[in-house]
Amino acid sequence: MSTQQPVCLGDCEGIARRRLAKNAFDYYQSGANDEQSLRDNVDAFQRYRLRPKLLRDVSKRDLRTTILGQEIAFPIAVAPTAMQRMAHSDGEVATAKAASSLGTGIILSSWATSTIEEVAEACTPEGLRWFQLYVYRDRNVVRDLVRRAEQAGYKALFVTVDTPMLGRRLADVRNKFSLPSHLRLANFNVNAHLSSGVKHSEDSGLAAYVASLIDPSLNWEHIEWLKTITSMPIVLKGILTAEDARLAVKHNISGIVVSNHGARQLDGVLATIDALSEVVEAVRGSNIEVYLDGGVRKGTDVLKALALGARAVFIGRPVLWGLAYDGEAGVKKILEIIREEFSLAMALSGCVSIKDISPDLITKKNFLVMSKMLCTNRACRKSRLGGSSVNM
Ligand code: GLV
Repeated sequence: MSTQQPVCLGDCEGIARRRLAKNAFDYYQSGANDEQSLRDNVDAFQRYRLRPKLLRDVSKRDLRTTILGQEIAFPIAVAPTAMQRMAHSDGEVATAKAASSLGTGIILSSWATSTIEEVAEACTPEGLRWFQLYVYRDRNVVRDLVRRAEQAGYKALFVTVDTPMLGRRLADVRNKFSLPSHLRLANFNVNAHLSSGVKHSEDSGLAAYVASLIDPSLNWEHIEWLKTITSMPIVLKGILTAEDARLAVKHNISGIVVSNHGARQLDGVLATIDALSEVVEAVRGSNIEVYLDGGVRKGTDVLKALALGARAVFIGRPVLWGLAYDGEAGVKKILEIIREEFSLAMALSGCVSIKDISPDLITKKNFLVMSKMLCTNRACRKSRLGGSSVNM
């Protein structure tokens, strides 16, 4: 335990960096290639500014909302991140306990180091869990995962659609990433140690695993097939454009997570907060719920995402840093910090319930125009003074 208590989500990252093995920290932290989108996921939130409503009575606030009809105590839940026992020996079980004790939910990764059933047991009876699915070439593997999730009370399938192949994460390639030998992908019998191909590969062990087992032909027909093998609602995780969002409506999908997979797949895609509006606009009038993950680090980020039309947000890396900091208590701390920041941001912007969070809370264009004007003024001043260029 660190003597210094974390007071914001960023504080835990430094602690995790010091505590975790390099193989593990790098795996969690890295994005694809040059990590342009990794940086932009966080930075992009700053391009949106808030327009608070004042002189409202904000002494009481109600943070509750629903995801696919199930209530959560505040609109922040846990994104699926793989192999959480590398961060703490209790892994996904600790995360599930923390989320469920605060009245929110967890999306369990297909590549968890705890079983579907263990995580279900860790939740309070009404504790919400959803299951993130990768579509394996072997359809029996998929059938088995879906059946087990359904039986263990998971409420929806979050199908990752942005990973027909694994993005190239340079740190993992350099480290030849693999799971520590005492851990396994708990929901599989075969290749549960990520052993497939790794020994002979110069690549990340996970990339080799994905290349051999995950179906790169994934397409809308598979989504239709999934509907025939489950009664759980299907949410597509990884949609970033209006075109794909409209197809999701056509295929009667229940939800979309505007996500770029923590910037770990196609580098150079839009930051998720920048992609959100076109997706929200494209599904307007349908029943699809839209959520967002990627770069959410502060309560004001949550407020901005909701103002732009997200129903809830999911957080990934900060939860891993919380786990590394102090297991279940660390994850709880992270979720409490961001919940309280969000509650304060609601109060300071005049919102007492989730439905008060409307698009007019946000400005982007004016802020950009203002900064452009500033830039031009500075450029003028500089050129009047004989300078040659402006460095903003
Ligand atoms: C897991 O989902 C990963 O992207 O590594």
